[in-house]
Amino acid sequence: MPTPHRTPGRRRSTRSLSPRGTSGFSSASQLFPLSHAYDAERVLQNQMGLNALWPTEWLCQEMVLRPGMRVLDRGCGKALSSIFLAREYGVQAWATDLGIPATDNLRRIGEAGLSDRVLPIHADTRCLPYGEAFFDATVCVDA
Ligand SMILES: C[S@@+](CC[C@H](N)C(=O)[O-])C[C@H]1O[C@@H](n2cnc3c(N)ncnc32)[C@H](O)[C@@H]1O
Repeated sequence: MPTPHRTPGRRRSTRSLSPRGTSGFSSASQLFPLSHAYDAERVLQNQMGLNALWPTEWLCQEMVLRPGMRVLDRGCGKALSSIFLAREYGVQAWATDLGIPATDNLRRIGEAGLSDRVLPIHADTRCLPYGEAFFDATVCVDA
């Protein structure tokens, strides 16, 4: 996977993306330029439904994320979204899933070079042992 450095915390609306194709519709690469840079084969191997990166990028376009923020990723599956959040926005992500072993996600996170910023947790996201104000933001993609 690439390791681009992004300016975190920016907001970008898909409505302002240009240029548009002749059909009048934006392509996936125009709508989700960050996701487009990821290795498609690896994304395919690790997604559990739809492409997990597109909705994550879409959410991030509306969120204000800054480096070091604590983000809870609920039902992260194989941690694609957590890896995206940490890589693109410099946040700390708690990759939490009830059905995917944390050991497997730890390996994926390590392969992405993000062991210092993504924490895999095998747990029910509804009852985590953290205080109410602990997380700065939360995302949930297809879970
Ligand atoms: C359809 S998968 C989507 C996974 C990932 N977000 C993606 O888009 O690739 C839904 C995931 O949510 C997890 N999940 C459902 N309820 C959960 C809960 N209460 N706590 C933690 N994980 C949960 C499941 O284990 C499953 O891995």
